[in-house]
Amino acid sequence: MDNAQAGATTQTVTFRIWRQDGPGNEGHYDEFRIPYRKGANVVSCLMEIQRNPTTVQGKKVAPVVWDAACLEEVCGSCAMNINGRVRMACSALIDKLEQPITLDPLKKFPVVRDLTVDRNRMFEALKRVKGWIPVDGTHNLGPGPRQSPHDQSLMYVLSTCITCGSCLEACPQVTIDNDFVGAAAISQARLFNMNPTGKMNSEERTRALMGPGGVQDCGKAQNCVKVCPKEIPLTSSIAVMNREVTKVLVKDIFFKEEERKASSGPG
Ligand code: SF4
Ligand code: FES
Repeated sequence: MDNAQAGATTQTVTFRIWRQDGPGNEGHYDEFRIPYRKGANVVSCLMEIQRNPTTVQGKKVAPVVWDAACLEEVCGSCAMNINGRVRMACSALIDKLEQPITLDPLKKFPVVRDLTVDRNRMFEALKRVKGWIPVDGTHNLGPGPRQSPHDQSLMYVLSTCITCGSCLEACPQVTIDNDFVGAAAISQARLFNMNPTGKMNSEERTRALMGPGGVQDCGKAQNCVKVCPKEIPLTSSIAVMNREVTKVLVKDIFFKEEERKASSGPG
């Protein structure tokens, strides 16, 4: 049903919202109906429901808990499943959504309460790939090496990641309890490896993507790139980091062979 039309005829919007009191608890859906407002987004509707959390059956319930901060697709905190697809709630307009609008928490992250999840695995993944540039003191090091405009514009796009978790949510290789680092951290490793100063630690970052949970766990489903709200070229980041991992592996084989020859001595 076209919601612009639905709103015009019914003047209400119906939500089915996942309710869960705490981590690991049983959950259920509560249904709410609120007045239709043209141009409203999911977060503004959640705020409306919060003012009077009464279900369509007339039962007064605890206010729905969700995360949001910037309301302009910058903080990444409002990612949730909206009608079964991961979206940013602050930019999801109700006029473009089928009713009832079903809201579920992200499924690849532990639920804290209702629609709020614990995204710690993303920060652990950034720690694993050393997603930062080490600085050697605060003294002025002078201008850094020049970067090509092409690299600058690519790095800009890579740097727009908002750690929303949408790419992990859509990825079939990510489960709630495995340790695949996911597309966001792989792309951040690429970003920091491209940085003229960050290049110094590029092998460390690349090595962190080797082995279980690393870039080779990617199943190439390419869902990540379709759901990223910042349109980051995640599949190209994965391909680049896969090549970097292969180069390091070849280098390791070469050095092992050199060592073997050296230890076996002449003749
Ligand atoms: S890469 Fe895109 S989808 Fe993944 S966390 Fe960053 S902004 Fe979100
Ligand atoms: S509230 Fe910050 S991205 Fe939606």
